Amino acid sequence: MKKILLVGNGAREHVIAETLKRSPQDVKLYAFGKATNPGILELAEEYQVGSLSDFTELKAFAAKIKPDFAIIGPDDPIADGAGDALLEYDIHCASPLSIVARLESSKSFTRDLVAKYEIPGNPKFQVFYEENGILDFLRELGDDYVVKADGLAGGKGVKVAGDHLHSHDDAMEFAREAISKHGRAIVEEKLVGPEFSLMSFADGKNIVDMPAVQDHKRAYDGDKGPNTGGMGSYSDADHSLPFLKPEHIKEAHNITQKTCEALFKETGVLFKGIMYGGFMVTKNGVRLIEYNARFGDPEAMNVLPILKTDFVEVCEAIINGTLDRINIEFEKKATVCKYVVPEGYPDNPVKGEKIEIGEIPKGVKMYYSSVDKREDGVYMSGSRALAFVGIADSLDEAEKIAASALGCVSGPVFYRNDIGTKELIKQRIDMVDEMFG
Ligand code: GLY
Repeated sequence: MKKILLVGNGAREHVIAETLKRSPQDVKLYAFGKATNPGILELAEEYQVGSLSDFTELKAFAAKIKPDFAIIGPDDPIADGAGDALLEYDIHCASPLSIVARLESSKSFTRDLVAKYEIPGNPKFQVFYEENGILDFLRELGDDYVVKADGLAGGKGVKVAGDHLHSHDDAMEFAREAISKHGRAIVEEKLVGPEFSLMSFADGKNIVDMPAVQDHKRAYDGDKGPNTGGMGSYSDADHSLPFLKPEHIKEAHNITQKTCEALFKETGVLFKGIMYGGFMVTKNGVRLIEYNARFGDPEAMNVLPILKTDFVEVCEAIINGTLDRINIEFEKKATVCKYVVPEGYPDNPVKGEKIEIGEIPKGVKMYYSSVDKREDGVYMSGSRALAFVGIADSLDEAEKIAASALGCVSGPVFYRNDIGTKELIKQRIDMVDEMFG
């Protein structure tokens, strides 16, 4: 029997819970989250609601459970040291310690690391601790610049020329704000091209990639509207994406492998967990947008349901540094994930509104996200509420399966209709075809 502690209560953690419970081993799951996720509740032996920022309750729960290992889903507790806190009780995690989780929590750390170890993938960039020099660098970049705040900012830490910034004055203002809040701002060259996520299991030395996924950050159809945590995502049956060439995945893998090695050289600590690279295909090759130190949400819902290998074994190999000794396989299936979110999301979402979930068509997977189960039903907390996933031999079929469930949710919600559709995917393919002539 294996006792596993799962930290977090979103859809990403719901699919992690489901995948752990699919193990052929006898798994007893213990969940710790800041709200009650009805899906995780059903799978767990015990579910404790508590703070994800102060680890006193988490440590007490873990000390009582004495799990064989833990896995932490969300970025904030990983960055704040939940893994370090659990290690005080000799509980190892398939999630990184905070010093190596800086890969996500400090964008300047990652840019500097990649530059120092001469890893390909960085755009032109400079890190600024004060205003001096920013304008000169912006002038060098011309109209194509991005300004990033150096810390976890819930998706609000990056502003891009043309989208959010319309002049060097705008860029200076955001950089000043970032310096005063986070101590640093990063100014980078703006890259153009389609993005993809390549998540890899990492044990500090070995890297095993999951199928590539494309997430959709914008709130509305046609990639319009404000940036969100991700409105939906897809992955293809060949584990690549329709607009990628085989060398793109190889380049991304190489960046992740080298970054993993560099992290150890730099910190003396092995990165054990998920290295999730946000990459972009550009005219000049694959570029690194950013790293996250956890599964992507929604991307976890594309890859984990098709993981054939026992996930418990994978987590143990991450912890023990033995990823090179197991064969990790995914089903050759396409997947499409579509999120249902509260009206007004992401800027002014309705909160505390009840939703009714009708009968979900057969074959659709449903994951609960930012909701709270109360005695009289399920209430939205203000962020992404429910995710539906279709799995099939082709993207077209998977899209239709996921879409068939969207109308089953009643309440003040909306969703994107276009994720995983032929029309939207064709736009990405055309973009890359144009780029390479
Ligand atoms: N898919 C976006 C994220 O997980 O941060």
